[in-house]
Amino acid sequence: MNYKAIADKKVGELKDKEHISILAIESSCDETAAAVLDNREILSNVIASQIDIHKRYGGVVPEIASRNHSLAISNVVKEALLRSGKSFEDIDAIAVTQGAGLLGALLVGVSYAKALAYSLSLPLIAVNHIKGHIAVNYVACSDLKPPYICLIASGGHTAIARVKSYTDMEIIGETQDDACGEAFDKVARALGMSYPGGPEIEKLAKDGQPIIEMPIPFKNQDTFNFSYSGIKTAVINYIHNKEQKGEPYNKADVACSFQQRAVELMVNNAVRAAKKYRLDTIVIAGGVGANATLREYMQRECDKADIRAVYPPVGLCTDNAVMIASMAYNMIRSGTESSDIDLDADANIQPTD
Ligand code: KG4
Ligand code: ZN
Repeated sequence: MNYKAIADKKVGELKDKEHISILAIESSCDETAAAVLDNREILSNVIASQIDIHKRYGGVVPEIASRNHSLAISNVVKEALLRSGKSFEDIDAIAVTQGAGLLGALLVGVSYAKALAYSLSLPLIAVNHIKGHIAVNYVACSDLKPPYICLIASGGHTAIARVKSYTDMEIIGETQDDACGEAFDKVARALGMSYPGGPEIEKLAKDGQPIIEMPIPFKNQDTFNFSYSGIKTAVINYIHNKEQKGEPYNKADVACSFQQRAVELMVNNAVRAAKKYRLDTIVIAGGVGANATLREYMQRECDKADIRAVYPPVGLCTDNAVMIASMAYNMIRSGTESSDIDLDADANIQPTD
């Protein structure tokens, strides 16, 4: 039998197995990550971050990211296995992020996962990164079940999804320009702060007031879409204006005003969507979900509307491999096939693919 036939037979047998051990790899951006899960239980979660390397350049440099993934991946996977207390013989499937992300970075994870799956004759599960961000919520919240509304808020995506099952969803609104995380990063840079900007803005905003006027995109329009470039431009214009006039300005107020509007847009869209589709749960997914103001405002608005708000622990909001294992688990339980050994990374895969 060839690899695909063996892997498909094995993945079919896993569907009803009581315990599935998944080794997952994530390398889509600037974290090299590996994790081992027994069903939804985290046995290990290793993340080698390159943030300090990319900080020098003010953002992720794709070539440098790929090179550092290549250097780190072997040790990260070994460490994840070691910490899990398992050996390769105990693993039932290999999961890997197929996309979206930086092509060169993704290729490191995909190539490594393919080699592992082939040499161990294990099923290879290709996971959509955004679906992974959503699926990490099943690890954090054991009674979470579809359907629900999901706010996807990462560095590359901002969208409202109607999650219909463990593997299927529909995007009902998305950003027409910048992603929210991207806007956080750009505003931080305009304020002279380092990459990644989200946590920096959050820290600075604590000392500020939301007193600077920010635009409201799609005001009074019946849409779940987002726009972040107008808010970002308003911030940049404000800063330039003050600098040109030589007037002092309060950076904390700028950060606070931007963050306040950014959060309001996300929460308002998500709550309106939950009401429209009569769904009683809103789930937050993606790196921006680590933001405390977003979590607090979402909680407050959900409480008012009798909606349950679910978000992962802060450490599982940004990129990790636990989320990839959790999505692979959904796929295996839903009867997925194994990928073949010619699996390719897909930098532009859509959240619903
Ligand atoms: O989901 P993620 O780790 O990577 C992508 O899939 O893009 O998201 C990274 C993004 C970055 O733009 C980062 O600035 C933002 O999430 N982020 C935050 C916070 N922590 C990370 N944004 C706002 N507040 C935070 N605390
Ligand atoms: Zn991500």
